[in-house]
Amino acid sequence: MSAFFFRNLKKNYPVVASATGVRITDTDGRVYLDGCSGAVVANLGHGVGEINDAIKEQLEQVAFAHTTQFVSKAGLTLAEKIVELTPPGFREGARVYFMSGGSEAVETALKMARSYFVHLGENQRTVCLSRWQSYHGSTFGALSATGHLARRKPYEPMLPAHFHVCADYRYRCKCGFAPGPCSNIECSIAIADELESAILAAGPENVMAFIAEPIVGATLGAAVPGRSYFPRVREICDKYGVLLIADEVMTGLGRTGTAFGMDHFNVVPDIIVLGKGMAAGYQPLAAVVAAGRVVKAFEDSSGIFEHGFTYSAHPVACAAGLATIEYVRKHNLIERVRAGESDLFKRAEELLNTGIIGDIRGKGFMMGLEFVKDRKTKEPFSAEIRISQLVAQEAMKSGLLIYPGSGFIDGVNGDHIMVAPPFTITDNEIGELFEKLKEALIRVSKQLLS
Ligand SMILES: Cc1ncc(COP(=O)(O)O)c(C=O)c1O
Repeated sequence: MSAFFFRNLKKNYPVVASATGVRITDTDGRVYLDGCSGAVVANLGHGVGEINDAIKEQLEQVAFAHTTQFVSKAGLTLAEKIVELTPPGFREGARVYFMSGGSEAVETALKMARSYFVHLGENQRTVCLSRWQSYHGSTFGALSATGHLARRKPYEPMLPAHFHVCADYRYRCKCGFAPGPCSNIECSIAIADELESAILAAGPENVMAFIAEPIVGATLGAAVPGRSYFPRVREICDKYGVLLIADEVMTGLGRTGTAFGMDHFNVVPDIIVLGKGMAAGYQPLAAVVAAGRVVKAFEDSSGIFEHGFTYSAHPVACAAGLATIEYVRKHNLIERVRAGESDLFKRAEELLNTGIIGDIRGKGFMMGLEFVKDRKTKEPFSAEIRISQLVAQEAMKSGLLIYPGSGFIDGVNGDHIMVAPPFTITDNEIGELFEKLKEALIRVSKQLLS
């Protein structure tokens, strides 16, 4: 018996004892290779001395000061470092608003978009559009934007109204002609055009923002859209004066081999949402980065953003974020991810022999493997089997942590796992990761296909 409210009260969780590099040890002495950086968070691996030192130093100076009264040096410097990474056309006059987690950041981005239009005097703009099969967080605003049916279901009657369009999910492209993942440019354009139809249906004068993950994470297993998708989305947003919010909570700051996921498509959003890897799990930290043109509406009006959290821009979290960004730069970790991508994906190809994987996708160190019963028809395994959970359990038995997900085809069916190791993982450790994963997959496939 325990007083701890576990995520699942029917499940036993190991008690974590320590962690260093890519390995986590529990109190029974079992060691796990962290093949998914927790939940795509621990980008630097565990126990990095420089980050711990920066946290201690900040604690010794000042642990907490409220943002209605003070700003910390760490917060000021970190904001500058983040803005430096943003693309031209965004960074001039851009500003960063800090908070503790990705859901808070999405809430903030939605409220910022609304406030932007209030400052401009366009009070009627209240509608936010997002996509099915997306994840934006678990608070009410963020969950209303989220398009994962199973996560929405228990709370559906309480969620604020929100409009959803389709995601550009290449493996199961709606055109239905391509046997493998579809790379037809026209399909991506057609899917992007659904956004225009939705804007017209809502009345363009009422729409304030469209929020999307550049590469969908937890709810679609690293699904990369076609090249033409986001450029078209940008055109549509511009046509109707709608803000484009890039939810980069998972993709931001190097995970996909570029500073931001949107960089792959040469698209400049209006607002960028960051979280997870920002402080690499050393502290809870997230941020909303507003492009100069968004900030200007606030500056030209009252200057007030009617919003805030007690722990906004917590000095210790900002110090951890600053040390993280400096560590990434000093050790060229974004380049490391970019250079390591082909090896990671080459090794994954071997897993296709297990007969239960239909698609391997992703960018950089963010990889998704989708399970299918039949590779030709792409028929998924029955949802009751919970294959992604089974694989995660078997991997854990082999001493490997991976990130399972399900329900992305229709809210019930569709299973994937994500492989997303720390940027600091060595080539040998990548070899070990795939050996362990292969063992787990072979055990599961024997169980299911025999
Ligand atoms: C793209 C995206 N947005 C938002 C969130 C929510 O972040 P948090 O769990 O820190 O609230 C997540 C978390 O997985 C995410 O992947």
